[in-house]
Amino acid sequence: MATRGTILLTGGAGFIGSHVAVEVAAAGWQPVILDSFCTSERSVVSRVGELVGAPVRCIEADIRDAPSMRAAFGSTPIHAVIHLAGLKAVGESVEKPALYHDNNVRGTEVLLAAMDEFGVRRMVFSSSCTVYGTPQRLPIDESHPLGAINPYGQTKLDIERMLDVWADAGPDRHVCSLRYFNPVGAHASARIGESPIGIPNNLMPFVVKVARGELPELGVFGGDWPTHDGTGVRDYIHVVDLARGHVAALERLDSMHHERINLGTGSGCSVLDVVRAFERVNGVKVPHGIRPRRPGDAAAAYADASLAWRRLGWRASLGLDDMVRDAWAFASRPS
Ligand SMILES: NC(=O)c1ccc[n+]([C@@H]2O[C@H](COP(=O)([O-])OP(=O)(O)OC[C@H]3O[C@@H](n4cnc5c(N)ncnc54)[C@H](O)[C@@H]3O)[C@@H](O)[C@H]2O)c1
Repeated sequence: MATRGTILLTGGAGFIGSHVAVEVAAAGWQPVILDSFCTSERSVVSRVGELVGAPVRCIEADIRDAPSMRAAFGSTPIHAVIHLAGLKAVGESVEKPALYHDNNVRGTEVLLAAMDEFGVRRMVFSSSCTVYGTPQRLPIDESHPLGAINPYGQTKLDIERMLDVWADAGPDRHVCSLRYFNPVGAHASARIGESPIGIPNNLMPFVVKVARGELPELGVFGGDWPTHDGTGVRDYIHVVDLARGHVAALERLDSMHHERINLGTGSGCSVLDVVRAFERVNGVKVPHGIRPRRPGDAAAAYADASLAWRRLGWRASLGLDDMVRDAWAFASRPS
């Protein structure tokens, strides 16, 4: 089948990458997944293939391994890279900052060197709203002050700056750093989704584990924040909407030098909003209890998503009910 060109997805077997691979293929591109499987399962690749309707090529490699990266770029002409590979656990990054720097920052350096060698000049990068640090105003637009509050966030800032330098090396280089807010949910087929190992870091996988009876109770950190119900507010975005944002960025990449664009819905939901929607939509109970605030947490963080609409013609279309329904359908899938 004729395609528009090959898109290499580093970290393409992960939660977000697998959904991006499906949307990239739906838009007529040929996705190739490159992943070390350090935080994902090999079976994801065949499940992506089922959804795409054809096997998806997969290269098992670590982005830090220069010979493997050269081999990957030498094996087929690549139109653009969507660079999702990275470690993302904030707590682990505090314990192992050197590992996070090596994997995320040095890994990106090795990847960019291989792209240079093979003349690949386009990249969409998985950045994060964590680059804004503690919110100083709401909604958070792209000109909000930057500041990392943990080593993981520092890696995202370091990579964005590295991409400025890389993009400056020639007018034919095009980069879009997408600053994700809080991706949740799963593909409507329930074939791919989020399967964190161990105790989850993020709210939705935690809610799912409590609903399944694998954890006794959801601890809600703070019930006295200045929000509509006292619990923390975040901008949850359906992972399929997020994945479509990557396709929109790919389509407009050639008009960019290096642009940073928020991917969020533009509105916030509290922890209790999520819990109540989950219980109502899925007909299950999520036992929960209020705990003291955690140091470093913010009352609320949500995006100004208007730049994504202006520059990419993209905005989120799925709501909280879709997010909690699809997260639960994936968690309840027959194994
Ligand atoms: N999920 C979120 O809440 C969130 C929010 C903002 C940004 N991000 C960023 O989006 C990207 C994808 O996140 P995700 O939620 O899909 O995480 P994930 O852990 O599910 O996926 C990351 C993938 O990258 C692979 N990987 C990691 N290091 C690698 C290396 N050195 N070489 C090759 N492959 C490697 C892993 O095996 C995994 O398949 C990450 O860069 C993350 O920092 C995620």
